[in-house]
Amino acid sequence: MQFGHFDDEAREYVITTPHTPYPWINYLGSQEFFGLVSHTGGGYCFYRDAKLRRLTRYRYNNVPVDDGGRYFSINDGGDVWSPGYRPYKTELDSFETRHGMGYTRITGARGGLTASVLLFVPVDVNAEIHRVELTNTTDARKDVDLFSFVEFALWNAEDDQTNYQRNLSIGEVEVEDGAIFHKTEYRERRDHYAVYGVNAPIAGFDTDRDTFLGFGNGFDEAAVPHAGQSQNSVASGWYPIASHHLEVSLEPGESRAFTFVLGYLENPRDDKWEAPGVIRKDGARELLARFATDEATLAEFDRLTAHWDSLLGSYTVESGHDKLDRMVNTWNQYQCMVTYNMSRSASFFETGMGRGMGFRDSSQDLLGFVHLVPERARERIIDIASTQFEDGSAYHQYQPLTKRGNHTLGSGFNDDPLWLILGVAAYIKETGDFAILDEQVPFDNDESKAESLMEHLKRSFDFTVNNKGPHGLPLIGRADWNDCLNLNCFSTEPGESFQTTGNRTGGVAESVFIAGMFAAIGPEYVALARRRGDDAEAARAEQAIEEMKAAVLEHGWDGDWFLRAYDYFGNKVGSAENTDGQIWIEPQGFCIMGGIGVEDGRAARALDSVRERLNTPHGIVLLNPPYREYHVELGEVTSYPPGYKENAGIFCHNNPWVIIAETVIGRPERAWEYWKQIAPAYREEQSEVHRLEPYVYAQMIAGKDAVRHGEAKNSWLTGTASWNFITVSQYLLGVRPDWDGLRIEPCIGAEVSDYTVRRTVRGAEYVIRVANSGGTEPSLVVDGRPLDGTVVPYAEPGSVVEVSVTV
Ligand code: BGC
Ligand code: NOJ
Repeated sequence: MQFGHFDDEAREYVITTPHTPYPWINYLGSQEFFGLVSHTGGGYCFYRDAKLRRLTRYRYNNVPVDDGGRYFSINDGGDVWSPGYRPYKTELDSFETRHGMGYTRITGARGGLTASVLLFVPVDVNAEIHRVELTNTTDARKDVDLFSFVEFALWNAEDDQTNYQRNLSIGEVEVEDGAIFHKTEYRERRDHYAVYGVNAPIAGFDTDRDTFLGFGNGFDEAAVPHAGQSQNSVASGWYPIASHHLEVSLEPGESRAFTFVLGYLENPRDDKWEAPGVIRKDGARELLARFATDEATLAEFDRLTAHWDSLLGSYTVESGHDKLDRMVNTWNQYQCMVTYNMSRSASFFETGMGRGMGFRDSSQDLLGFVHLVPERARERIIDIASTQFEDGSAYHQYQPLTKRGNHTLGSGFNDDPLWLILGVAAYIKETGDFAILDEQVPFDNDESKAESLMEHLKRSFDFTVNNKGPHGLPLIGRADWNDCLNLNCFSTEPGESFQTTGNRTGGVAESVFIAGMFAAIGPEYVALARRRGDDAEAARAEQAIEEMKAAVLEHGWDGDWFLRAYDYFGNKVGSAENTDGQIWIEPQGFCIMGGIGVEDGRAARALDSVRERLNTPHGIVLLNPPYREYHVELGEVTSYPPGYKENAGIFCHNNPWVIIAETVIGRPERAWEYWKQIAPAYREEQSEVHRLEPYVYAQMIAGKDAVRHGEAKNSWLTGTASWNFITVSQYLLGVRPDWDGLRIEPCIGAEVSDYTVRRTVRGAEYVIRVANSGGTEPSLVVDGRPLDGTVVPYAEPGSVVEVSVTV
């Protein structure tokens, strides 16, 4: 069952009913100002930091779900409705929401009036635009009242939800020329304010929520729209909102459009008042003037579209398979941009108040982002590396606004350092910017402790070398990629964080997964050292990698698959000897990506075990059998009911590792089949089972042991986005930037017979035409000449290189 369809030409997902199984959302903004918007208009916006600079309020865990957002109310002769269906839930004659690249258009019609709300954040502007177009489709004149509505958050989203004894007394606004200014706390330590204005004369306004809704009413009973008349209320404490009232007359067939602007502005601290108690508003006036006409608004919208054209232009495929093309060309790349911007902060599953930027998460997000805006990737790399400690370990998270490491969480996640090497390597392969390695980057944000980025990578590499356990395998610390495998935690108190409690330093608990990472990622460090002429360092690193691989073969192999870990007591985790959790997905993927067991057939055996034990039609589960009891020595993973999350859920993040592993051992059919299982466009037809957005990946799909097998949770913000994008673009379609050229090694099922990839990298365009019969040994012809090998040397910027591939 579907609740909409893709419009590939427009790069939109078109939702045709308000009654989806869950709010299906989109993101606005990709620089500093961001909004989340559901298909019925719910959501909120913020400037840079979803916790500390929240402009509008949103209530998670609310009933009804997804209540509150930017609501436009229409009173048409006493009939009150909203184009997004909510909050009034007045039946509409037609409803359609189009989620596109950085914008959402919600259109509803009722009683001969069509109302269309286009929401977007223009390029380089710190504001959300709400363009409301009303069309009279009858043959009589219509006089309607239109009301806007947003509810302000008092900036700090967490405090806003908890500190009522203070907050209910501090709300302040100003109203000037029809624009509403939110200035809570501006009189003291804030130098920022919000404005909500409109480019038309208003008949009235409201800024006090109780006046607008009527005390005790829900959004659906809002008093002012029902009365058809604003009260010109001025908030003082309690709950500041912004609502404009427009009286609109429409001749038969006439359309009129209004631009509402919800902006964020800052003033210099020593020049923030226009008059005593009156905010300096030059910035806001300029912003509103910029959107004074509809032409200007539409021109900004065109600029946004052009921006996305150019962003998405550096990797495109034409395969004749709609679902494959739309994942690669549009939606997977789009999700990579969103996860890069948000990290794991703000979605409909992450409140924006919790996590900052993850060291591991952001490093992996780089993989799917470097080709989109390389300059921003560069900056991010420096930010991430600046939160590293001198021994190579790292703060697990940092705050986006301050860029400082998060002390509460601290460090001790022993996989973290290696991800940085992978991110930097991806960036350099994409850009050729080897100079980044000479950038001086602080440790722990302390400029007096700065070293070159290359030195940071060395410390990353050596962190694993210097932190091994009894079997010569890496110590796991608090956890590795799997945040829930907490072998040193031993938590028995409800509510304790598994990630920050305990961490006994037994020096025993080891991770085979980190060993696999070291084997897979270590060679990137070797390559960099060699390119810098440091052969001795390269040889030393190679030796360390060989030792690690040997340790895995000796102590990390269970007979039919790779072990997962050794626990605090030195017992095996992920072994046929265990009752539950016998086989885990992560080491099967990464050890094989690191080349372990490829030659002696263990890799194929491990992947066959994955298929037998872990695969389902909805994707590959994380482990099997699921844990049925809580194991204090294993931690959070055993706290989840069977089939959910890390306890045998389908993690869409690590399915790609198995897919890549299948390509490593040359099994294109399986790789292709596994990729399709979890790709959202391929799951669209079972939306009633999957339940979340069919245009983006979710972190998890409930596994085979779950009550609701196949149901997705936690959509949008997940490393799944990057890993699936590089899997399909670099390994299946097989176009992968390398150090000296574009490596072209397709490995995709024969179902995708002929396809063309257009890839722009380092300023040159490569047009790659592939004739595929599902083979694994490609032969290449470049500009008419047969090529030895599979790496097409990078061409001069500006050139177009024609590549034909037969495989
Ligand atoms: C989740 C993990 C997540 C971790 C972050 C856990 O509860 O299961 O997926 O990475 O929290 O702190
Ligand atoms: C989500 C976290 O953001 C990520 O860092 C972690 O690797 C996965 N969960 C698995 O636990």
